[in-house]
Amino acid sequence: MEIHILSIFPEMFASVLDESILGRALTRGLLQVHPHNLRNFTEDRHRVTDDIPYGGGPGMVMKPEPMVAGIRAIQERFGPSYVILLSPQGDVLCQDGVKGLARMERLLLICGRYSGVDARVTHYIDAELSIGDYVLTGGEIPAMVLVDAVARMIPQVLGDAQSAVEDSWFDSLLQGPVYTRPVEFEGLCVPDVLRSGNHAAVAKWRRQQALLTTWQRRPELLQGASLSVEDRAIIQDFEGA
Ligand SMILES: C[S@@+](CC[C@H](N)C(=O)[O-])C[C@H]1O[C@@H](n2cnc3c(N)ncnc32)[C@H](O)[C@@H]1O
Repeated sequence: MEIHILSIFPEMFASVLDESILGRALTRGLLQVHPHNLRNFTEDRHRVTDDIPYGGGPGMVMKPEPMVAGIRAIQERFGPSYVILLSPQGDVLCQDGVKGLARMERLLLICGRYSGVDARVTHYIDAELSIGDYVLTGGEIPAMVLVDAVARMIPQVLGDAQSAVEDSWFDSLLQGPVYTRPVEFEGLCVPDVLRSGNHAAVAKWRRQQALLTTWQRRPELLQGASLSVEDRAIIQDFEGA
């Protein structure tokens, strides 16, 4: 899959894209990420991308012309893409949304700055997405969050394909506790079952713990989870305890 990013700070992405799982996915050609400098799509000598707001008020507003010229130029050169404006007013990104985006061939992410983007740009986008109910200074970090979340849903990006399936949110459940060595740390022990070598017992314990963690921390998620009869019995036990 290909992800394009339109930003006035395209160099911000280098450190995130060079490292770890994302870096390896790029090297292996499982994912391509192309940050584009919004200023390349301006037509004036000073390469201006923002202007004062109509009606007055604080802060600058990102101009529509470079944004729309950038969207058109990137699509003409690379092909059609699903265009996403990162915005605190958008639909909040969730794991199901991430899975849907990971199935797309090409995404184009638009990063705002200052007081936001001229409202007319929304006529040229397919979706407006937020990464949470708070405001950041720019769309670059939200774009990185989206790229990271989408990348790990692409087959083969994670070394152990199973690990995404057991992650929190994959199946509307939170993950249960995980442990590594040592067996005992300051009197706190790893549960025996995890050291038993009995794979069926470990899988059963992990499922119970995922259900327990979700029931304790985000019980509303259980409504949307696909639960077996056994799962439901386990939850009834929690409720009865
Ligand atoms: C300071 S914010 C603008 C906020 C805008 N004045 C408002 O109240 O909605 C600048 C840019 O950061 C990005 N941004 C900030 N918070 C975000 C969030 N929670 N999710 C996605 N993008 C966000 C958007 O691209 C936005 O245009």
